Amino acid sequence: MKTTRLYLANDTSSLAAGAGRLAEVWSKRPEIQLIRTSSRGAFFLEPMVERDGPNGREAWFNVAPDDVSRILEGVGGTPVATIPFLRQQTRFTFANFGVTEPLALDEYQKRGGLKGLAAAQNLSPEAIVEELRLSGLRGRGGAAFPVWKKWQVAQQAQSEQKYVVANADEGDAGTYCDRMIMEGDPFRLIEGMMICARAIGATKGYLYCRYEYPAAAKAMQFAIQKAREADLLDCDDDSFDLEVVVGAGSYVCGEETALLESLEGRRGVVMAKPPYPAESGLYDKPTIVSNVLTFATIPNILANGGAWHGSLGTEGSRGTMALQLGGRVKQPGLVEIPFGMTLRQALEQFGGGMAPGARFKAVQVGGPLGSLFPESQLDIPICYDAFAKAGAILGHGGIVVYDDETNMVELARHFMAFTADESCGKCTPCRVGSVRGREILERIQSGLGTEADLVLLSDLGETMKSASLCALGGRAPYPVLTAIEHFPNEFRGRLKV
Ligand SMILES: Cc1cc2nc3c(=O)[nH]c(=O)nc-3n(C[C@H](O)[C@H](O)[C@H](O)COP(=O)(O)O)c2cc1C
Repeated sequence: MKTTRLYLANDTSSLAAGAGRLAEVWSKRPEIQLIRTSSRGAFFLEPMVERDGPNGREAWFNVAPDDVSRILEGVGGTPVATIPFLRQQTRFTFANFGVTEPLALDEYQKRGGLKGLAAAQNLSPEAIVEELRLSGLRGRGGAAFPVWKKWQVAQQAQSEQKYVVANADEGDAGTYCDRMIMEGDPFRLIEGMMICARAIGATKGYLYCRYEYPAAAKAMQFAIQKAREADLLDCDDDSFDLEVVVGAGSYVCGEETALLESLEGRRGVVMAKPPYPAESGLYDKPTIVSNVLTFATIPNILANGGAWHGSLGTEGSRGTMALQLGGRVKQPGLVEIPFGMTLRQALEQFGGGMAPGARFKAVQVGGPLGSLFPESQLDIPICYDAFAKAGAILGHGGIVVYDDETNMVELARHFMAFTADESCGKCTPCRVGSVRGREILERIQSGLGTEADLVLLSDLGETMKSASLCALGGRAPYPVLTAIEHFPNEFRGRLKV
């Protein structure tokens, strides 16, 4: 019997969109050979099914089980290479999404995997750090610190034991690319961590994986085992080995010092810096804590050279940016593009504009601590400097679009309540300030607030910004204050007269 190979994603987002139902029905049909890939990240097209066509893969969108006959007949497919959402992207870090079987190491290698590690093995640790300097790579977890500087500190530190830790806590609402890497291309993350281990002289690595990501933790455990079997990882004293640790289910555990506390088995509480983890981190040893996407970007940098990466993007923002579009856009999904495009272009070109019937009101960039942008500010270029100048952050690339039915007072209250819930309690401005901030917003929401409450919120915001121990308290005022700045009438209209 002739069998047809169909490619269907198996990651959490595609399963949520219905891919599991297709797999259940189709796996019983002998004429179908199902290959489970990861999603390409065009979520609005999921469940998306592909098969090999005369000129590459062809795809069927929003597929239901009954669509199988036309897919098997090859009727109505769209060449994947022509899908605008994907065609207009520059995919380096996410190049394997939708193409390979995530847990097949040989497929990863066939697509150029492990070339970066091989290149690193031919370089001295100092030369690896130099490639990173040339690359201009900045950490993708939120703080955007130059990666090479951190690695250099850990490399130069004198210690028998050093650690590499992947921050896979990915707590920002509206972000998902770390999960997609772990579920969809786990060997890329392992390779990046191995390159780091070689550069700084670490023998042990941990992957601190968000509690809410069970499939990602499982995929990583499986991939680590495969890497051990292939002798890439080894628990010998002078080799490098990796372990997955499931996180404590707390947003603040994504902050690097709280993460390390949690990893050591204590409550995730933020610690004062310095010392920075690169000097004294896990068990007081030099430790590189980097974001999953940061590590996953590194294999290509070593394989193609730092200068290659440094030639992409804009001055100060080199390489590609992972935008994770969500909220009321027509086309939610994962976008990889060089830095520099404006926010408006990204929302129109990739987001496809607003969802049917919805009208734009604001967009929040950078997670729950990110600023809100009204329509008039959408022409800002997506790069670190422009965002910093605007008092905003790119964060981990989460972009959530709100429509005109959004109540800005409620949204501002929600953000303060989030910080009050998630504060680790170590510093007073965050612990107490977030609760007082939430109370003021609740007062305004219930119609009992006064003009003085708006002044109080602004004062409180300034104190939290300047005196909090970490960016949870330090950035919590931004969504609230930008909501008031751009939509003042919604707040004033609720004040007691
Ligand atoms: C409240 C809070 C939560 C954070 N959550 C994360 C997270 O989930 N993932 C992450 O990579 N970085 C997170 N960070 C940033 C980390 O502290 C740290 O800067 C980052 O892991 C360093 O990696 P990078 O240099 O690759 O960005 C968070 C920071 C704060 C203040």
